[in-house]
Formats: sequence, C-alpha cells, structure tokens
Amino acid sequence: MNKKNLLFSALMAAGCAFSAMAVLPEAEINSRVNDLIGRMTLEEKIGQLNQLSGYGYAPEMVGQIRNGAVGSILNEVDPEVVNKLQREAVENTRLGIPLIFARDVIHGFKTIFPIPLGQAATWNPAVVEEGARIAADEASSVGIRWTFSPMVDISRDARWGRIAESFGEDPVLSETLGVAMVKGYQSDDLSQPNTMAACAKHFAGYGAAESGKDYNTTWIPEELLRDVYLRPFKALADAGSATFMCSFNDINGVPSSGNRKLLQNILRDEWGYDGLMVSDWGSIQQMIPHGYSENLRHAAAQAVDAGVDIDMESYAYTGHLRDLVEKGEVSEARVDSLVRNVLNLKYRLGLFENPYVDVATSKRFYAPASLDAARRAVEESAILLKNTGTLPINNSKVKKIAVIGPMADAQHDQAGTWVFDLEKEHSVTPLTALQQMYGKENVIYAPGLDYTRDLSTKGFSDAVKAAKKADVVLYFAGEEAVLSGEAHCRADLSLPGAQSRLLQELKATGKPVVMVVQAGRQLAIMPESELADAVVYCFHGGTMTGPALANLLSGNVNFSGRCPVSFPRMSGQEPLYYNRKNTGRPAEGITLINDIELEAGQTSTGCTSYYLDAGDGALFPFGYGLSYTDFTYSDPVLSASEIGPDGTVTVKCTVTNSGDRAGSEVAQLYIRDHVASLIRPVRELRGFEKITLQPGESKTVEFVLTPAELAFHVNGSQTVVEPGEFSVWVAPNANEGTPARLTVVKPQTVASR
Ligand code: GLC
Repeated sequence: MNKKNLLFSALMAAGCAFSAMAVLPEAEINSRVNDLIGRMTLEEKIGQLNQLSGYGYAPEMVGQIRNGAVGSILNEVDPEVVNKLQREAVENTRLGIPLIFARDVIHGFKTIFPIPLGQAATWNPAVVEEGARIAADEASSVGIRWTFSPMVDISRDARWGRIAESFGEDPVLSETLGVAMVKGYQSDDLSQPNTMAACAKHFAGYGAAESGKDYNTTWIPEELLRDVYLRPFKALADAGSATFMCSFNDINGVPSSGNRKLLQNILRDEWGYDGLMVSDWGSIQQMIPHGYSENLRHAAAQAVDAGVDIDMESYAYTGHLRDLVEKGEVSEARVDSLVRNVLNLKYRLGLFENPYVDVATSKRFYAPASLDAARRAVEESAILLKNTGTLPINNSKVKKIAVIGPMADAQHDQAGTWVFDLEKEHSVTPLTALQQMYGKENVIYAPGLDYTRDLSTKGFSDAVKAAKKADVVLYFAGEEAVLSGEAHCRADLSLPGAQSRLLQELKATGKPVVMVVQAGRQLAIMPESELADAVVYCFHGGTMTGPALANLLSGNVNFSGRCPVSFPRMSGQEPLYYNRKNTGRPAEGITLINDIELEAGQTSTGCTSYYLDAGDGALFPFGYGLSYTDFTYSDPVLSASEIGPDGTVTVKCTVTNSGDRAGSEVAQLYIRDHVASLIRPVRELRGFEKITLQPGESKTVEFVLTPAELAFHVNGSQTVVEPGEFSVWVAPNANEGTPARLTVVKPQTVASR
C-alpha cells in the first residue's frame, strides 16, 4: 500500500468529508495519463476496458478487481460497498487506478422526476437541468459518478417502448433539453464529488427501429441520419457530454458497436469528440446474432477498430484482446487509445484524488427543495388536451369528487420506467393529494379496475355508484410502468384492459368526467377523448405526480405542458410525426370509412394521402396544449424578406395573454423550404421560447434565423442552403400559425453541422 493510499484510508476511516480538489488542467491530465499508460501491462490496460454489473461485495468481483480485470462497475448503489470495492482497486492493485461506479439514473435517483418524455412536455430546459442536478446530487451521494443518460434518440413511433426515455420526435427540442440535462449532471466542474458524467445515448439511430419494435433493424439514409438522428448527439458532443453509448441496432446493415464510420469517422474525426464511448449491455457480443461477427473474438476486433472504449458485459475484451494484440490483429497503440479515454474520464471526475464516497454525507435523498422541484416539473409537464369547461374544478359548485381508475393510487406505476432505485412509499398519488386538498370526506374513491391491464368488470358497479354520488368524476387511466421502456413495445396503442369500457360506464351516469392519462408514450385515445369532458395527459410523472395534478385540476396552477410528440388517432398511423413530407398527393377531401356509400365508385373517396378509417394527421399535434387562459399571436415580422449568403434574419412575434388569468405559453419557430433538391418537411422546429404572461400582457418573442438554420444535408454529409422560398411561422403548435415568406437569394455551402 503506498503512502497516498494510507492517507486516503486514514481519512476514510475518520469519515472525513473530502474537500473536492479543483479539476486538473487538461494538459496535466494528459501528462499523467501518458505516464500511467507507459507503466501499464497489456493485462492492466485490457482491465480498464471492462465494465461489469455488480450487486454487493461479491468475492468474485473482489478477485477481478484485485487482478486488475475491471475498470468500472454498474449497478452498485450501497456507499459502503462502493468504498469497499474502491479500496480494493486503489489499495490492492499494482497501480491503484480507481473504479468508476455507474447507474441508469434516467429521471431521478430517489426523488423521481417525470420520465424524459414528460420532461420534454415542459419545453423548459431549466426544469430539465434542475432535475438532473438533483439526480446527480442524490446518486453521487452513494458513489454513482456516471449515469447512462440523457437518451436523445429521436422517436417517431409510439409503439417503441423506449420513446418514454426520449425527448420525443423533434431534433431541436431533443438537443436543447439533452444539453440542459448534461449541464445538470456535470455542472461546470466534473471533478466535484456531487456531479456525474453524462452519457449521450444510444448512438445512433436506435429510435428508428423498424415497426417500432425494440432492437430492430434501421434503414436511415445518411442525409436523414444527419438532419434528424445525429443532430442531438452533435449538440451533446459540443456541450461536453463526458461519454457516449453506442446503440444495439444496426444502421443500414452495420451494428453501431462495430460501426467505424459512426464511432470513428463522424464522432471522432469529423466532430473532434474526445470523450469516452461505452458499449450498450452486451452489444459487442450481440454482433454475433446480428450476423456481423463470426464469434466473440471477431466482435472484439470489430469493436476495437470502430472505437468502443469500454465493453459492458460482453466479456469480449477480457476474453480476446490479449490474443488479438499478441497475434498482431489489433495494435497495442489502438488499445492505448481506448485506455486513454477511460483514464481521462477518471481524472476528469477527480477520482484519482478523491476516489471514496463520504459516507458521513451519503444518502442525501428527498430534500424538501427536491420534492418541490419534482412537483413543479410535473406541473409543467402535464398537458391539457381538451376542456369543455369542466376544469378547473369549481369549488363553489363541486362538493363531492369521485376519484376512479387504476392509476389514481398507483405508487409504483406513476413513477414510470427506469426507476431501479424507486422507493414507492415516497410516491404521492393523485388520490392522496386530492384527499389532502379537498378532505377525505369529499373524495369518493373506487378504482373500478385493479390495474391498467385488468379486464375484470367486477369493480365497475362501485365506480358507477361513486360517480353518481359526486359532482365531478376524475378518471385516472393510462399504462402501468412496465408497458413502456426497454423491450416493452406495443402494437396496439389503445388504453389497455377494460379502461375504455369503464369510461363509457362513467360517462353514462351523466356526470362530467375528466380523464387524466398517465402513460409512458402517447396513446391512441381518440374514442375516449371524444367521450370525456376534459382530457389531461401526464407522461409518468414520478414521486410528486399527485400534488402536481391536484394543483392543476383545482386551478391552483395553470397548465403549460405542450406535446413533444404527435398523438395518433389510431395505432396504425405510426410512425407519425409532424416534420413529414408533403407527398405529391397531400390529403384532401377526406371521406371517412363510415361515410362511404354502398357500392361507391373506386375513385369516390378521392386519390390523396390519408386513411379511410383514421383520416390524416395527429389527433393532438406536436407542440399542442391548452391553458386556463388564451393566447393570441401576431403575424411574424421578419427583419428582411431575403437572406443573403451569410446574412441573418430576425423573426419577431407578439404573443398576448387574452384571457383572465396568468399562464405560460410556448412560442414555437418553424420553417419550411418549399422547393429543394431533396424534398423538405412541411415544417421544421427551429426554436422555441416558453413565456409567462399576466392577463392582458403581451411580449414580443424574437428568434434569429441564420443560413445554418435553413440548411440540410445532400450527397450524404454535405450541408447546403439552397435558393428559393421559405415559410416562417411563430406558432402555438405544428399545425397552426400564419407564415411569413423568406427568400434565400443564392446557393451557398455552410460549415458541416
Ligand atoms: C440497457 C440499455 C441502456 C442502459 C444499459 C445499462 O440494456 O439499453 O440504455 O444504459 O443497458 O443498464
């Protein structure tokens, strides 16, 4: 044991709180890393590239650490065990290189925030950053210094269970919120012990899984890959996300884990990224069933060549890298380049100076300020989709409230997916919050169904009785947490179980019914939305869902959530997204299936692009959401009607609160390039601003459009702005607004994005 370690263990034993050392200059880190690599054996280098999942102070894990066979561990969250395992690495190995402890802290560690799709519905980067900061403080207090978040996969298909973990269908919304999350996790000094390294995942194109089926193949032309799927990752690389994770899927036949063009040519050579790349769980090994690798040795060689620094749970590197190097199939210099990225991260995290958790201050959970922030996040994420006047609950008219439905009191399920560290007893449900707000005597509770997939109608009669006794019915429907997230895809996006039938029974009582949906994705709720008098959508909101919904339903707080995805009328519309192409026959003269006459002529329903049963477009469009007040928009005013080669155009629009109470609105900037060498979408989000206005107050929002905002990719990787007419909107959602015209006056090539 060397002197430094003796000091650390003495301090550790004394339970002293380590003062965080200042971050080392990059030049100093580089010098120390070079020195260390120069002293490492090949075996020790390979060990740094190996990440294992650990639960507890397992003897085999201790042995692997002492043998220098593991460089990072995921899933250990007991601070005592973290320190024990860390001491094995720091004090019982030849070079004392510390471990990194990682966890999927996706939307909170103990204080659970809305799932990322819900955080996207806030359209508020400050809310996302605050939630990530709180998550980092809670998780780092037990020794977690690396989270596998944010996930910035663009998701255009609600069938895909992992849409829950995404920021939705748009690259600009996703990149803006993803960057905010990185800042929250990493703060401005990653060496501080209450920070976590972020991880931009899953690189790349994972959300384009065919048929919305997880892990499925993708076919993404390079122009689309760069215009849409890579854009958020580029933003996170530029924002300094300390790590990336490659994805399970193949892109056009090449799995990401062995995709040199993606991981080396684009990420490293083109973007200049110098962080760390970790594989997904077993993704190197999965190149065998993909049909890309003959065996694990071959997969290891492909992953090293592509640039996967750390092998998570494939045992490919520990099993085959020595042989590959000794046989000259992989150079030790290439291995050194991977090890460098690992050691850089450990120095940037300050782990060489400060490897241990301060147990005296660990387990910092559920601070009142954190719970308050979590409640505000839900309040800003919930979306008011329909309101015929039933909301807010009118206290002068409403004395009795019926609270019904399988999601009214679901402490586990309201937290959503990826909450391995959830303590559900801390979840405050809508039932509890409403009883606290209105008094138990005024809240009549009858779940009607025991869980969302429940097909039994045995509880219906009690639910109907409760409804009949009440002045208003609050029906909490949705999805259990397990119905979204990894490997949890659904081909039918209807409300599961007998939830729709229960709503029909409740509506038949003649009472006003407010349907509140908690789910991990946008569901196909057209029939239910037509039945209910009001519809509120809350993507699984986490710990403080109840108090937030009570505040919103009562009118204490106004709705400000906006759709981060397009809501389908029917499942069969998926994939469904607003930034679609116009086609040569855009939908017109829609004749719905029940309106078609018998023996109608073949062309009687027209020949344009729509569904006979679902019509066309979203039930609730991207960017849409109602408020308890109203907003009006002036026509956008451009500072010029033409944009030159390097010019910029300022777009102004005055938004007015024309209602009688304060509210927040999300003004959205959209463009459309009407004629181009590759057809462009009918709309593309290019900016947004969430503003709060008092009754009668107006504010002029201002956006700057540069050529780069109008650019798109051609010939694979070339970025161009082509001459011609553009429309520019500042609007409340992707379907509304009055466009201004903008002309690009000459072709130019701008720097590649
Ligand atoms: C999972 C997920 C990935 C996660 C990793 C570690 O399979 O794909 O998002 O970070 O494994 O848990």
